[in-house]
Amino acid sequence: MIKHETIEKNIGLMILLIIIVISGGGLAEIVPLFFQSSTTQPIEGLRTYTALELEGRDIYIKEGCHVCHTQMIRPFRAETERYGHYSTADEHVWEHPFLWGSKRTGPDLARVGGRYSDDWHRAHLNNPRDVVPESKMPSYPWLFKNKLTGKDTEAKMGALRKLGVPYTDEDIAGAREQVAGKYEIDALVAYLQALGKTHSVYTNKR
Ligand code: HEC
Repeated sequence: MIKHETIEKNIGLMILLIIIVISGGGLAEIVPLFFQSSTTQPIEGLRTYTALELEGRDIYIKEGCHVCHTQMIRPFRAETERYGHYSTADEHVWEHPFLWGSKRTGPDLARVGGRYSDDWHRAHLNNPRDVVPESKMPSYPWLFKNKLTGKDTEAKMGALRKLGVPYTDEDIAGAREQVAGKYEIDALVAYLQALGKTHSVYTNKR
């Protein structure tokens, strides 16, 4: 029997025992998730993002929207009353990287699709204070000036396909055409309008 005092005084032994305990816990808690269909299989009827929405998602990442906004509704009444059905893993199986986020300076956006018109989003992103006077969200006026070329879109979709996102050859072949010449704002708004709308399993929206 090792005395607790011996462990506390021997840092090497302490580290070894901590590793054993954490590995055991990890095996028991995490590994089963890899084999659970509710965390690995897409929710019924899930569709992939279109080429334009996918470019919008990359702009969302580039502009750091995920730093202030989460895309994960927690299973608490205060959250579901405000944002709709709580988020589930099977809605996110094709997200690489996932954008759940960890800090909410602004509201959760997991189901913001359809909540506002395209015009509202355009006005809001140009200058949030035009539509929400007390807003402290930054303005993004350059989104209306930067045009997309679509030159990387096919390659991005190809890379996502390698990770298991079921893009077809036709999706990828038409990608550049769908994106080229559009402004960044068009792509970002298309993406925002798709959030929570890529399947129709949860209909009890707020
Ligand atoms: C510095 C933090 C911050 C950043 C960065 C930020 N936002 Fe916001 N956002 C907010 C705050 C605060 C609000 C609430 C006030 C308002 O509606 O403007 C908000 C509101 C919103 C809303 C309305 C949500 C609702 O349900 O009413 C949308 C949509 C939105 N932001 C999208 C974006 C997008 C897209 C980006 C990136 C281009 C972005 N935000 C970047 C802070 C931020």
